[in-house]
Amino acid sequence: MGLFTHDQVNLDLLRKRAFNYRWASLETDVIPLTAADPDFPVAPEISETISNYASQRYFSYGSPEGNSEFKEAVAYWYKKRFNVMQDPANVLPVNSAAYGLFIVARMIAGNGNNVIIPNPVDFLFRKSVEAAGAEVRTCMVDKSTGEMDLKELRSLITPSTSAIFICNPNNPLGKRLSLDHLNKLIDIAAEHNLWIVSDEIWADISFDGNVTSLFDPNLQEYDKKLVVSGLSKNFALAGLRIGYVLSQNQRVFNELLDSSGHKTTAFGIPVLSQLAGASAFTRSEYWLDAFLVHLKEMKGLTEEFIEAFPLFESVSSNATYLSFPNITGGKMSSADLVQLIHKEARVALVPGGAEWFESASEGHVRICYATSREILGEAFNRLLEWSQKKKI
Ligand SMILES: Cc1ncc(COP(=O)(O)O)c(C=O)c1O
Repeated sequence: MGLFTHDQVNLDLLRKRAFNYRWASLETDVIPLTAADPDFPVAPEISETISNYASQRYFSYGSPEGNSEFKEAVAYWYKKRFNVMQDPANVLPVNSAAYGLFIVARMIAGNGNNVIIPNPVDFLFRKSVEAAGAEVRTCMVDKSTGEMDLKELRSLITPSTSAIFICNPNNPLGKRLSLDHLNKLIDIAAEHNLWIVSDEIWADISFDGNVTSLFDPNLQEYDKKLVVSGLSKNFALAGLRIGYVLSQNQRVFNELLDSSGHKTTAFGIPVLSQLAGASAFTRSEYWLDAFLVHLKEMKGLTEEFIEAFPLFESVSSNATYLSFPNITGGKMSSADLVQLIHKEARVALVPGGAEWFESASEGHVRICYATSREILGEAFNRLLEWSQKKKI
């Protein structure tokens, strides 16, 4: 028995609670390797923090700037894990990284602007930019390095470009960006006076090396940098909708706060979510470290499966708990193959394609391996048996 053994996975609860294409959304005999949301219960310290606060029976309005304990915990975490000096005052807690992207896009882009995003990348990038009224321009990413094509990037910039969004590590490619590439991106942003926004929600899930935050002291300084992140991936808190935006000074923080709508009370983050987040960062690091050990094993298992499965070809990754193989043969679209596998092999995957990860993701499928060895093994056995039966 350990923190990430199969006996920890409570399928009865997951079937009631885990939505978003997972256990509670699908037929009971289907194994979901879909939305990036772990199958394991969170660190007990997090639940204890919530219970203690709840037992005091006061649920008053929180501060629009965010709970100071959480803001300090984020700054502590960025120093500890990424060697970043972050002033807690300039941390804006937000209701999810997704909402963080929306707030940032609203603040720095609008009608008549365009924003450059990577291709492939998570669909939230496009959604947030378009919700702000701006146009999306996509820049090809080299799938073997995760790096944007800098020549193309330069050619996409117009006088109306307001920002470059990056995803580090990249969902769905599972690649972290090098210091050198980040410096080149900052150079280009600075040359054209653009914002550079780094979504670092996956930064804690990295294998054999650390992620370089956009605020890393070894990167060149630049005033128009922002970081968006959250606790759905590292600490499995997706249902608490807890994220944050990091800025470098009070003026930008105030703009973000205005953009958030928190001051109206129409938007905001439950105090409980912020305290849970603080507890994750200050008391549950051991849990994340054990999770990373487990994930590394599951990554190996997933890569072995891809090697053996005739329809997939591995694309190497060094971060996230996602694998993004190519579909070989090229006869079927990603969506059709995922649908067929779901129907016949009873395993759910996420298809590549413009709907989820921009156009360059077509021809791939995404596998989330944040589950137990037994569940993952069963899913892979089903897929291998299915391919043998179909004589693929
Ligand atoms: C790159 C990226 N950004 C943002 C999110 C959304 O995170 P949250 O649950 O905090 O909204 C995800 C979730 O998959 C993601 O992969």
